[in-house]
Amino acid sequence: VIGVVVYSAPAKVYLSGEHAVVYGKRAVAVALDLRTTVRLERSDNFLYQTNTDTKYLEEAVSAFSSIKAVYGLNIKVESEIPVGSGLGSSAAVTVATLGALSEEFDVNLTKEEIAKLAFEVERSIQGVASPTDTFVSTVGGCVLVPDLIQIQDMLDCAIVIGDTRTVGSTKELVQAVKELRSSEPEVLDLIFDAIDQITASGIGWLEAGDYKRLGMLMNINHGLLDAMGLGSLELSAIVDGARGAGALGAKITGAGGGGCIVAICEEAMVEHIVEGIRAAGGEAIVAGVSRDGVRKGN
Ligand code: PMV
Repeated sequence: VIGVVVYSAPAKVYLSGEHAVVYGKRAVAVALDLRTTVRLERSDNFLYQTNTDTKYLEEAVSAFSSIKAVYGLNIKVESEIPVGSGLGSSAAVTVATLGALSEEFDVNLTKEEIAKLAFEVERSIQGVASPTDTFVSTVGGCVLVPDLIQIQDMLDCAIVIGDTRTVGSTKELVQAVKELRSSEPEVLDLIFDAIDQITASGIGWLEAGDYKRLGMLMNINHGLLDAMGLGSLELSAIVDGARGAGALGAKITGAGGGGCIVAICEEAMVEHIVEGIRAAGGEAIVAGVSRDGVRKGN
């Protein structure tokens, strides 16, 4: 292929199960139609222009080079995903870059191969990584973790993200939960089991289209994350703001300590929820579920 190749990949949120997944429990993550777009063309040298984390872009190119030699590229990345907020911005840029390279160099990587290679890129940069972000960004829809299977391609409700614009360190928070578990193993294991059941029951409501009950479970999940010390004043405020404005459910998404909350609501309530989140000091981002994972075009 000669010319500019354009690929994009989505962000993700957890409807349930973060942290408990570290202990083998189930979680559900969904792709959001908040995307990172990569425009790539061959060139004599390497030139990258991006508004997101460049490290992942460089590492993706380098990982791809072990499949096929790459001598020069112009790459422009435009991302709608806030960096470091737990929405999977690094996975999206990695996955979109690999998708574009695969087409440009006629390698035809399957989605499975893209997800696997993207996971290796994240792991090589972060030391440890969960395959969730890269998998969800590659396949789209609602994904059950740790099985990594798409359980549904859409949700019939709206999603509003509330960003605290503060950042929590995933590594430190995972470590804090580990320490809490070493001092109170029986209690923490019951919390993890409860979260596992939230995911299991939540999938039932999701499949039945009962978002009210799904939302109730998300609220319980939030309480349990808070109980493990993963909340913050800002997170609590915008969770309350979203619920007060009529959200069916609202919870921390991702590692916590800062970052984002995810709220689900009826389509007609979106503007209310946005206002509720703003009034509580958060930045609101409206983003439906993305049926598509990595795809050609933006
Ligand atoms: O904040 P994020 O999206 O990187 O999510 C972290 C999720 C954890 O369960 C806390 C850690 C993990 O590796 O699964």
